[in-house]
Amino acid sequence: MLNIVLFGPPGAGKGTQSQFLMDRFHLSHISTGDLFRKHLKEGTDLGKLAQKYMDEGNLVPDKVVIDMVDDKIQTDGNVAGYIFDGFPRTVEQAKALDHLLDERGTPIRGMIALVVPEEELINRLMERGKTSGRVDDQNKEKIAHRIEVYKKETLPVATYYKKQGKYNSIEGVGTIDEISQRIETVIASYKQ
Ligand code: AP5
Ligand code: MG
Repeated sequence: MLNIVLFGPPGAGKGTQSQFLMDRFHLSHISTGDLFRKHLKEGTDLGKLAQKYMDEGNLVPDKVVIDMVDDKIQTDGNVAGYIFDGFPRTVEQAKALDHLLDERGTPIRGMIALVVPEEELINRLMERGKTSGRVDDQNKEKIAHRIEVYKKETLPVATYYKKQGKYNSIEGVGTIDEISQRIETVIASYKQ
């Protein structure tokens, strides 16, 4: 199984590149942000709970996120592997994911981090905010806050995987295809 953590700040292109990974390697995509937005749309209790955190650009509590991912993995059938997008976002979540995957004997193969300058992130999200309907894309302050939360709470997750020798970073600026190629090169190196 090829389990990958696709990592990066808000707007780095995690969702965009997940599409490539799904097509190219037939991996199953778990985006906790997308799952919460789906709950929100369906008006579930989980969606309502998550909304107040998401609208402010804050993290949803670990237990809520971990239980949702656990549930998703347990109910999935056989898959070729997972792309985790926007998860794990805290060291607590990373530990829980390791535990969950250890039980199944299918550990994380590697983390691939997309590196994008802050100015570019803000530009991308401001642009998307014009049409996305995402409350958290709507102004510069909110976007800046999400980036701050990333630095404070999520960056330590990179260190967690570095310690396991599972960290790779790539330049996240360029055309979508160029970035996909860089990801593919990292994945090819896993197989050697
Ligand atoms: P989440 O949905 O994960 O959002 P995010 O991490 O803030 O990131 P985005 O989805 O905005 O960006 P992305 O990296 O996917 O980039 P994309 O491909 O879209 O989380 C939202 C909220 O949910 C969180 O704030 C939190 O409240 C909650 N949450 C989610 N997971 C959680 C967790 N694990 N724990 C706790 N809380 C959690 O691209 C961005 C834009 O750039 C697009 O418009 C795209 O078209 C464009 N773009 C992509 N690639 C390129 C390129 N190469 N060149 C130019 N433009 C590009
Ligand atoms: Mg995304």
